[in-house]
Amino acid sequence: MATELSAGERPAGPVLSLRGATLRFDRRTLWQGLDLDVAPGEFIAVLGANGSGKTSLLRAILGRQPLTAGEVLVAGEPVTAGNPRIGYVPQQKLADEGTPLRARDLVGLGVDGRSYGFWPSRDKRRRVDRLLADVGATDYANVPVSTLSGGEQQRLRIGQALASDPRLLLADEPLASLDLNNQRAVSELIDRHRRERGFGVLFVTHDVNPVLPIVDRVLYLAGGRFRVGAPDEVLRSEVLSELYGSPVDVIRARGRIIVVGTPDSGHAPHDEHHDAGHEAVCDHNPDDSEVVVL
Ligand SMILES: Nc1ncnc2c1ncn2[C@@H]1O[C@H](COP(=O)(O)OP(=O)(O)OP(=O)(O)O)[C@@H](O)[C@H]1O
Ligand SMILES: [Mg+2]
Repeated sequence: MATELSAGERPAGPVLSLRGATLRFDRRTLWQGLDLDVAPGEFIAVLGANGSGKTSLLRAILGRQPLTAGEVLVAGEPVTAGNPRIGYVPQQKLADEGTPLRARDLVGLGVDGRSYGFWPSRDKRRRVDRLLADVGATDYANVPVSTLSGGEQQRLRIGQALASDPRLLLADEPLASLDLNNQRAVSELIDRHRRERGFGVLFVTHDVNPVLPIVDRVLYLAGGRFRVGAPDEVLRSEVLSELYGSPVDVIRARGRIIVVGTPDSGHAPHDEHHDAGHEAVCDHNPDDSEVVVL
């Protein structure tokens, strides 16, 4: 936690380095030649259609998915499964109804790591209380997780991921199924902690708009290729048209970015994938008086 190890005490090197990272399943290439250094405290949004390999990238960084070629270093060291330097918020899975787990138990699992401690010590209790406070979940600490809303559960999962004081946070669609207020709250929560604690963030999302104000760079995956850079560099008609190999329009309206015409945006009749990201901007935005129809 920030009080125990400030960002200033940490080595300044990249928290994540990908070198020539390539992943293929059968003959399908998800991404290849991926070079990326993530600096401490840097926030990177990972964008791309369903099936473009976002979750697989996170799994490769976690050491759960071997690369076809290339290298992954986390805080300068080769990946190992169960690396406590990485906090992971997996693609959303809400708690099953009837699960007796309370909010504090869920966060406590992160404190225990993989050893499911049975007798909570006073230290552990203090640490869990602190994490619950950090993510704004103190009020429902003793409530069964299964009775909490999606936004409340997501805060707990972030608290759990922060418990090991990670150098790198991997969050896989942490905004999925959250309303706009909760999208904002969860984004701000991660933003605040990455600044305070200095961990790097890979944040997978289908809609970049909720995190646009806080994103340092985007990594856009499409058709076995990628682009990485500042949002203004990557989210451009000519860049995405080149990446997809077909005309794509990037429209800016009222501070929001709308991507139209990708082969995976539901307009191509033979496409098997459907990219919710290009639809998410159709959601009603309370700041706007109109709904954009693509
Ligand atoms: N172990 C595996 N063996 C074979 N194919 C796999 C394996 N893991 C993933 N894939 C395939 O790789 C592709 C990318 O999957 P991945 O889950 O990384 O996509 P994604 O970008 O996270 O998609 P979504 O937006 O739907 O979550 C999919 O077509 C998937 O079926
Ligand atoms: Mg995924």
